[in-house]
Amino acid sequence: MTELEQRIIAVGGLKGGVGKTTIVELLAVESAYRGKKVAIFDMDPQGSGSRFVARRNEFNENTDDPVPTIMNLNRNPAEKDVRKTLLQLSKDYDFIFVDLVGGNDYDFVVVAMIADTILSPCSDSAKEFEQLPRVFNAIEKAEENLMQLDPDGNNRIDLRILLNQLHPSSIAANKELRDIIIAKYGKYASLCNVEFTTKKAFTKTGQGLTVTDYGDQLRSKPQLLLDEVIGVRKPRAIKEGVALDGIN
Ligand SMILES: Nc1ncnc2c1ncn2[C@@H]1O[C@H](COP(=O)(O)OP(=O)(O)O)[C@@H](O)[C@H]1O
Ligand SMILES: [Mg+2]
Repeated sequence: MTELEQRIIAVGGLKGGVGKTTIVELLAVESAYRGKKVAIFDMDPQGSGSRFVARRNEFNENTDDPVPTIMNLNRNPAEKDVRKTLLQLSKDYDFIFVDLVGGNDYDFVVVAMIADTILSPCSDSAKEFEQLPRVFNAIEKAEENLMQLDPDGNNRIDLRILLNQLHPSSIAANKELRDIIIAKYGKYASLCNVEFTTKKAFTKTGQGLTVTDYGDQLRSKPQLLLDEVIGVRKPRAIKEGVALDGIN
């Protein structure tokens, strides 16, 4: 399989606190270690993705042993439809990770129309799980918009559910969760092979560093997830009608 030159990877859902920013940080750092020019495009007014980059820069200013750099890009608040900006920026970066805000359906739809892949973190909590149909509706809306723009184009959006904050000991429950997603939602989304359990190490980002910088054994998680995103590894299940380049 060949590596995709994937450029815009959005992480979003329609709820806060599911791990969007955490996943953005982990993937951005992993990409930077692969020598990519990487930016986090922070669309959340809470700015946690931007603060992560600021802390990382500060770390680098105060050390003889700097970590790979990540850029921070912020949305122009006057610009409602960010597609033009993202398209422009994608020419300057290998990877742009879009950190969406939970609960903003408009931004979600617009970004879905331009992103190469959308990762939607979801835990095993019923509250988050119940939000998934709303995510699928937003993606359908984005697919309809794409269809109108280009009736002959491929309008299927590469949405992937990423299980995050799972309890490692709930083996049967986690299996049931995967089975439900594949059986019930396979039409609407792929399911990532890589899953994240609840681990403190993923959240020790106070210095703008992640497991990858620390050389923690958990760094294999973002590594494998990025491999899936760029197409050198397969997701567990692939959304109906989505042709993943490089993967048959
Ligand atoms: N896999 C994980 N293990 C432990 N804590 C996590 C994990 N993923 C997210 N968290 C924690 O959950 C909270 C919400 O995560 P965050 O990435 O800020 O979510 P969002 O950006 O969706 O609001 C944070 O306190 C974060 O540290
Ligand atoms: Mg966030």
